[in-house]
Amino acid sequence: MEAVGPQERLLDRGATAVAHPNIALIKYWGKRDERLIIPYVDSLSMTLDVFPTTTTVRLSPGARADSVSLDGMPASGEPKRRVIAFLELIRELAGRAEPAVVDTRNTVPTGAGLASSASGFAALALAGAAAYGLDLDPTALSRLARRGSASASRSIFGSFAICHAGRGEGAAADLGSYAEPVPVPDFDPALVIALVNAGPKAVSSRAAMRRTVETSPLYQAWATSSKADLTDMRAALRGGDLEAVGEIAERNALGMHATMLAARPAVRYLSPATLAVLDSVLQLRADGVPAYATMDAGPNVKVLCHRADAARVAETVRGAAPGCSAVTARRGPGARLRPGAGQ
Ligand code: PMV
Repeated sequence: MEAVGPQERLLDRGATAVAHPNIALIKYWGKRDERLIIPYVDSLSMTLDVFPTTTTVRLSPGARADSVSLDGMPASGEPKRRVIAFLELIRELAGRAEPAVVDTRNTVPTGAGLASSASGFAALALAGAAAYGLDLDPTALSRLARRGSASASRSIFGSFAICHAGRGEGAAADLGSYAEPVPVPDFDPALVIALVNAGPKAVSSRAAMRRTVETSPLYQAWATSSKADLTDMRAALRGGDLEAVGEIAERNALGMHATMLAARPAVRYLSPATLAVLDSVLQLRADGVPAYATMDAGPNVKVLCHRADAARVAETVRGAAPGCSAVTARRGPGARLRPGAGQ
C-alpha cells in the first residue's frame, strides 16, 4: 500500500450518517433561549422507520468556504445559512478551521410538507462530528443536534426518546437540555402518516413558536398541562397502553395548535383537509378502531394505531380528503454512521 501524506489523509476525511425523522407524542413548542435552542418544555417522540436523511460531510482544506447541496442541488438562502452556522459550531468544538463539503439527501416525497429538520440535523451532527474528529457520546451528540433543531436531538435515538428542556440559563441550560431513550421494548404501534396536499407552509416553525410564546394567552396554560401530559404519557408507554398513549398525544397536539390559534396574529397550520382527516379518525374510533391523531407545524396528520389496524386506517385517511396519500411507519432506528462510506 502506498504511503499517504497527512495532507491527502485530511483531504479524504469524511463521514456519512443516516438519520430518521421522529414524531413527537408530547410536543416541543417554544424556545426559552433562541441562540442555544433551549425548549420551554420537555418532549417525547417516536423515531420512524421511513423517510431517512443521508448526509455526507467531507473536509475540504483547500476550499475558501463551505459548500452545501440538498438533494443534489446547491443549497441557498436560509437552509444553507443554517447548515453553515451548524458547521461553525462543530468547528468551534473541534478547534478546527477547514471548510467542508456537505451533501444531504432526503427521502421525504417532494412537496409533502413533512418536516425534515429532525432527521437532517441529526444526520449532520453525526457526520459532521465524525468528519471533524469530535468524539461525542450519544448524549453529547443529541445536545449538538439540538443546536440545529430541538427535535433533531431526539432523532439521535431510535424508538422512543425524551428531550429534556433543562434548567437554568446559558451553559447550565445547554448542558441540561439533551435527549435520551425511553425504553419500551414491548410497545410497537403503527403511525399512519396522512399526507395532505396543501402547498408550502406560510410560517416557519421558528417564527410561529416565537409569535406563540410572545403573544398567545394560552401558551403558559399549555406548557403547564404538557408537564402532566408527559407524566401520564410515560406511565401509558410503560403499560403498553395504546389507547392511553393515543389520547394523551392527541390532546397534547390539539392543545399546542390551540396556543397557535390564539397567537396574535393567529398561526393556523390546520387546513380543511387536515380537519377532514381528523373527522375520519373520530369516525374510526366511533367504529371501534383505536386511532389517535397528532399534527406538527404543517397540515399533515399522523395517526397512531395498532399495527393490525394500520391498513384500514391508511385506507380511511386516504379517502378522507382529495389527494390525500398515506404512508405507514413503525418505530425506527437511531442515527448511525454508514461504515466505509465517505471515509
Ligand atoms: O425542531 P423544530 O424547529 O423542527 O420544531 C418542531 C416542533 C414540532 O414538530 C411542532 C413538535 C416537535 O416536538 O417535534
